[in-house]
Amino acid sequence: MTSSHDQPFGWALIGCGSVGRSHSRWAVGTSDIDVHAFCDINEEAASSYYEQFEGRYYTADADRIFADDSIEIVTIATTHGTHAELALAALAAGKHVYLEKPMAMTTADCVRIYEAMQAAGKKLMINFSIRFSGAARAIKSRIQPAMVSHAQVMLGREDLKRWQWLPEIGGGLIFDVGVHLADLLCWMHDSPPVEISATGGQVTHPGQLASPEIIDTVAATIRFANGSVATYLMSDAGFSEKLTKWFSTFNDGQQSAVLDEHFSRATITTPDPVSGELTTESFSPPFIDRMPLLVDAIRNDTDPYVPAYPGIVATLVLEKIIESVHTGQPQKVELPPQIAPK
Ligand SMILES: NC(=O)c1ccc[n+]([C@@H]2O[C@H](COP(=O)([O-])OP(=O)(O)OC[C@H]3O[C@@H](n4cnc5c(N)ncnc54)[C@H](O)[C@@H]3O)[C@@H](O)[C@H]2O)c1
Repeated sequence: MTSSHDQPFGWALIGCGSVGRSHSRWAVGTSDIDVHAFCDINEEAASSYYEQFEGRYYTADADRIFADDSIEIVTIATTHGTHAELALAALAAGKHVYLEKPMAMTTADCVRIYEAMQAAGKKLMINFSIRFSGAARAIKSRIQPAMVSHAQVMLGREDLKRWQWLPEIGGGLIFDVGVHLADLLCWMHDSPPVEISATGGQVTHPGQLASPEIIDTVAATIRFANGSVATYLMSDAGFSEKLTKWFSTFNDGQQSAVLDEHFSRATITTPDPVSGELTTESFSPPFIDRMPLLVDAIRNDTDPYVPAYPGIVATLVLEKIIESVHTGQPQKVELPPQIAPK
């Protein structure tokens, strides 16, 4: 069923921090969006976004956004520990939701959001940025699907004062950046993960993190249902100018692709089917616009470009990586029954 809604959609942002700025620019730049409100528990942040991006009001009270019938789409760009509560409240209030990653910090919470979304009949899009990269999309269309991959995010030594390291609020580097790798690998392999083996823990900051549960370093392997395999490396042990912060490579048995330069460049090597001679091309297509993809999904009543499913799977992968690091045992991965293929 397509929507008869031909007016711009009233939009509000919850979480006026660094990524909220990008969401605000995207909203302002989308003709189908009418910017209504900015919300942050830090009222000054909300006020400064209101001054910069305009709209109708700012507030420190998310309930005011949920109670406002003129707001139809809510972007949630807050600290990780608040995603579930805010997304559930937004869906219960009948809003479509554009939710930052990670979808939530536990698979159980992700599933709750998924069920709330279904009950509300609303759309939910997850902001897995790599999926919007033209370079990553080019690789996805050429490597079909990945058979053997490696994905890594390697940072310079991190500031431990950031909220991202706090257990309940951030969950550590893995929920901040490692979640992108989990999603990237599942997307490129096009198959559910079935087994994860991981090692690591507090390698770069031994005993310095708020809880022994928080990890700073992971070296993992993932096996997918179609038999394909991947390695996963995440740490703040050092940043390489050569490989850059994000570096991944995907191979499908014929072609080989590298995604680097902050996932903006694709380099694909293809063997000639007869001579075996290799041809290598490098290209950097732009990112695609994100908000119109959610608007289209609402108007056409289709799944948005990055729906709930990959959000749930990525958090599940993180949980299994963490379990494997803590137990030293490989972990079987089973999709929650709500999203498992019937
Ligand atoms: N997709 C991406 O590439 C990408 C990049 C960076 C950050 N992020 C994600 O965006 C989210 C925000 O990260 P950030 O770097 O902008 O953090 P930030 O600290 O700059 O901003 C977070 C804001 O949320 C506000 N906030 C916290 N709890 C709130 C609540 N209950 N109600 C209203 N406001 C609340 C804080 O006051 C703060 O202003 C995180 O989920 C992060 O992982 C995604």
